[in-house]
Amino acid sequence: MTAKFIKPKFITVEGMDGAGKSTHIPDIIVSLQGRGHEVVSTREPGGTPLGERLRELLLHEPMHAETETLLMFAARREHIANVIVPALARGAYVLSDRFTDATYAYQCGAKGVDASKIRLLEQWVQADLQPDITLLFDVPVEVSMLRLANAREPDKFERENAEFFTRIRQAYLQRAQENPARFRIVDANKPLEYVKQSVEEIISTL
Ligand code: TMP
Repeated sequence: MTAKFIKPKFITVEGMDGAGKSTHIPDIIVSLQGRGHEVVSTREPGGTPLGERLRELLLHEPMHAETETLLMFAARREHIANVIVPALARGAYVLSDRFTDATYAYQCGAKGVDASKIRLLEQWVQADLQPDITLLFDVPVEVSMLRLANAREPDKFERENAEFFTRIRQAYLQRAQENPARFRIVDANKPLEYVKQSVEEIISTL
């Protein structure tokens, strides 16, 4: 019997702050491991020592939206070179808590940076690397804001207002519409058990 070759997959998880994605990431890891895959779980901004230092600045330091975009891609370049590509090359699945869709949603959708500038950086930094599957945790803005109000000390992004979050949600949904083969939208406004089940169904198809 010949061994079945399984192409490693690059999976990203997205959603606005308070959509609940972090609750489900541990289950996704366990589910993939249960299917026999090595999983490298990582996040953006961050994922490398330099990326984590940039994350501190990005989340807490006021800066121009284009500076923010450039730093997101600087951290991403490091992340791709040192974590994502090596993991995929040795056959591991990569699960990243956010990736470039977040730059389109936050820096372009919410803060008005030109999409053409982001596309330029995306081509430079990623070449043809794109996630295979993106789980988008979607909730109404009021729900995410209520969750954030009850959470830890908010960072720079989490302190923004309802219009900002509305633009993020719209930008994410537009990304999903433009990339239907890659995106899976999870209705994260449903009860926890239902959301867990929906996530498991998606993972079982990978
Ligand atoms: P997290 O709290 O989900 O880890 O994400 C950190 C914050 O960084 C979150 O508010 C979204 C923001 N972010 C961007 O604005 N642009 C990006 O490209 C990424 C990856 C994150």
